[in-house]
Amino acid sequence: MKILLFFSPMKEQTILMVCLGNICRSPLAEGILSEKCKHLNVIVDSAGTSGNHIGEKPDPRSVHVATLNGIDIGDQRARKLMKSDLENFDKIYAMDSSNFNNILNLAENPEDKKKVHLLLNEVAPKENKAVPDPYFGGDQGFNEIYKLIDEACEMIKNNLEKEFHV
Ligand code: 4NP
Repeated sequence: MKILLFFSPMKEQTILMVCLGNICRSPLAEGILSEKCKHLNVIVDSAGTSGNHIGEKPDPRSVHVATLNGIDIGDQRARKLMKSDLENFDKIYAMDSSNFNNILNLAENPEDKKKVHLLLNEVAPKENKAVPDPYFGGDQGFNEIYKLIDEACEMIKNNLEKEFHV
């Protein structure tokens, strides 16, 4: 029985990327991680803690920097984080501490709280760094957050490959 369990394939992993508006940072995180994990049994989605942009396309500046890197995020639409997301996803990554606290406030049990992480802690554990909100800044901010998110998603992919024995 132990041997059978050892060889049983890992179940699908579901990952949710969360920012405030779900139009700048988390759509990029969804697009980048989905692209990196095409060969793995992983579902990636994104959401915002505010409902201010529900149904909107990602910010054109996020679409542009994604396109420059060969990733199409144009079909994504913003949605608001729901209580059920805490149950339904295996891991939830917040872009900054404000998002992190807002997600935790929706969690109803310690098990769901444990699913919530700051994205950049994947790169610099326990440093609690933020992916800065680029919304009110210029294009350069979008290039910078792309690099930060890409680095973190590379780490997540590498860890998933180990878990999946790929
Ligand atoms: P996001 O960026 O949280 O990365 O999607 C923002 C988008 C919109 C606003 C703030 C941040 N806003 O204030 O409308």
